[in-house]
Amino acid sequence: MTGTTEWSDRVGVVTGGAAGIGRAIVGALVAEGCRVVVVDRDEQAGAAVVAELGERTRFIGGDVADPATADRAVAAAVESFGPPAMLVNVAQASRQAPLLEQDRADFDLALGTGLHATFNFMKAAHPHLLETGGSVVNFASGSGLTGMPTQASYAAAKEAVRGLSRVAAQEWAGDGIRVNVVCPIAATGGVMAWAERFPEEYQGIVAKNPMGRWGDPDQDVAPVVLFLLSDASRYMTGQTLMADGGATMLR
Ligand SMILES: NC(=O)c1ccc[n+]([C@@H]2O[C@H](COP(=O)([O-])OP(=O)(O)OC[C@H]3O[C@@H](n4cnc5c(N)ncnc54)[C@H](O)[C@@H]3O)[C@@H](O)[C@H]2O)c1
Repeated sequence: MTGTTEWSDRVGVVTGGAAGIGRAIVGALVAEGCRVVVVDRDEQAGAAVVAELGERTRFIGGDVADPATADRAVAAAVESFGPPAMLVNVAQASRQAPLLEQDRADFDLALGTGLHATFNFMKAAHPHLLETGGSVVNFASGSGLTGMPTQASYAAAKEAVRGLSRVAAQEWAGDGIRVNVVCPIAATGGVMAWAERFPEEYQGIVAKNPMGRWGDPDQDVAPVVLFLLSDASRYMTGQTLMADGGATMLR
C-alpha cells in the first residue's frame, strides 16, 4: 500500500480471518509484510491459513463472543510479534428469519459476535493501539443501513457497531487512534450458505447493484480495508465506507 518500512512492520489482529473477507484481509496484510494474528472459531480453516501464509501469521481459535478470546488474541500478538497497530473486527454470526420469528437467542448471537466482540477486542487492544498510534476497522452492513427483511438481529448488531465506532473515533482521536467502518458486498462462503436459503434475495442483490455483480473479497474489499489501516487515510476517522459496488450511497 505505502511501501514504507513503517507499514511493513505493523502487527495486526483480524477476527474472522480464516475465511471470506477476513481471510482476504489477512492475505493482503501479509503480502505487504505485516504480521497478523488470525482469530476464528474454525480451527481447521485457521490452521490452513497459517500453513499457507507461514511465520508472519499466528492462529488463535475461539468464539469472539467470549471476552477471553480477545484477551488471548491480543496477548498472542504482543508475545509473537509485538504490540498491534491494526485491529480488524470481521467475525459475525447471525440467523435470518422474519422479525416476528426472531427471538432473544437470535439477538444474543448477533450482538454477542458483532457488537460485544467488537467492543471486547477494541478494549483489549486499546493499550497497544495507544502505543502504536493504531487503526481499527470494524465491519457493518448495508442490511443495517437499508433495513433488509429477515435481518432484524443482524441489522441491529451492525448498526450498533457503527454507533460504537463513531464514539470510539471521537474519544480516541486525540490519542492518535482511528476507528472506521466498512460495509462490504462480496461473494464468500458465508454469503453462499445464505444464498442457498434465500435464492431470490441473492439474485435481487445483483439486480439492484449499480455495478451488476457481487464483489470479490480480495480485489474489491481487502484494498479498502488496507487503505483505512494505512497512513494514506490518516485524516479519516469515524467514517463508514461502502465497498459494495454502489449498492448503498451514503449522504
Ligand atoms: N459478504 C458480504 O456480502 C457481506 C455483506 C455485508 C456485511 N458483511 C460483513 O462482512 C464480514 C465478513 O463477511 P464474510 O461474508 O466474509 O463472512 P463469512 O461468513 O464468509 O466468514 C466469517 C468468518 O468469521 C468466522 N466466525 C463467525 N462467527 C465467529 C465467532 N463467533 N467466533 C469466531 N469466528 C467466527 C467464521 O468461521 C468465518 O471464518 C462480516 O462481518 C459480515 O457480516 C458481509
